Amino acid sequence: MSAIRYEHIKTCKQSGARLGRIHTPHGIIETPIFMPVGTQATVKSMTPEELKEINSQIILSNTYHLYMRPGHDLVKEAGGLHKFMNWDRPILTDSGGFQVFSLGPLRKITEEGVEFRSHIDGSKHFLSPEKVMEIENALGADIMMAFDECAPYPASRDYVKNSLERTTRWAKRCKEAHKNTENQGLFGIVQGGMYKDLREQSAKEIMELDFPGYAVGGLSVGEPKELMYEVLEYTTPLLPEDKPRYLMGVGSPDALIEGAIRGIDMFDCVLPTRIARNGTAMTSQGKVVVRNAKYARDFTPIDPECDCYACKNYTKAYIRHLVKANEILASRLITTHNLHFLLKLMENVRQAIREDRLLDFREEFFTKYGYEL
Ligand code: GUN
Ligand code: ZN
Repeated sequence: MSAIRYEHIKTCKQSGARLGRIHTPHGIIETPIFMPVGTQATVKSMTPEELKEINSQIILSNTYHLYMRPGHDLVKEAGGLHKFMNWDRPILTDSGGFQVFSLGPLRKITEEGVEFRSHIDGSKHFLSPEKVMEIENALGADIMMAFDECAPYPASRDYVKNSLERTTRWAKRCKEAHKNTENQGLFGIVQGGMYKDLREQSAKEIMELDFPGYAVGGLSVGEPKELMYEVLEYTTPLLPEDKPRYLMGVGSPDALIEGAIRGIDMFDCVLPTRIARNGTAMTSQGKVVVRNAKYARDFTPIDPECDCYACKNYTKAYIRHLVKANEILASRLITTHNLHFLLKLMENVRQAIREDRLLDFREEFFTKYGYEL
């Protein structure tokens, strides 16, 4: 028995989007879902109780960061990541494939794995599929990602082909090294860049390994949004209908809706939490840069339509003051609002699927939010 099971509820008759549930050892996730990012075993500035208050169903954390600090042995000794960080709902850990490749000149890729220098102290380290499985098993997340290679954009066909074939070989090694299949589900990652035949090759090879879920990687790496949608349009239908599909690193409001329409069930992104810390909010009327001078005397909430803790109790003028004064509460309030906004957006997406009207919802949302269709 796999630790992860996808239950399909219905397909939106208007858009083809999927409504479902993912059963995990730490409870059920309703999909499509957005996963807040807690890179260092914390969603920056938020307590687990606060995350639950805004209905976070699952969070993501990072193998690479926790391996470097405090170390997976220490997290295991603490009783695993759930216990260490006091979060009893589902957790997904990314494999470090993306972080390590982002290190640029600090890393060297071979068939065996990736050698790199620490972003903290410059010390030398090595990650292989086997090592990543050892780390992810020690962390104990409900869903673990295989160790993959995410090609940059743009990249030549040859480069992308080599990297997707290595990703397949590494996925096989990950599957063989994964020790805790009863309690942790290992997801495969489809690569192949912006090349249709390479996406088809990758999907076929990864699916032959039979994972309980599949991710689409290598997108949102600097390509135009239209291109990302085009790749999704032909990649998602290649994946099995009875398993969850996860689009990695995507979390702008328009891309969440477009992704759901193309059959994606799970998303994650640092965007809402990162822009919160520089004073930017996502609202039903579009982006609000709270730090702007024009809000100095604006005594209305960030988003008049929002019922989050920040919007119920504070004005833009006050939060702008906190941002300007570098006060921690500014980050906390805007992070609360942004995550609440995206989680609520996904709840509305699920409701629209239930009612077979996700294309109508997209139009209403974009008209108000200010994105073009
Ligand atoms: N996060 C965003 N994109 C990717 C990807 O392609 N691979 C992994 N492992 N993580 C990601
Ligand atoms: Zn709010």
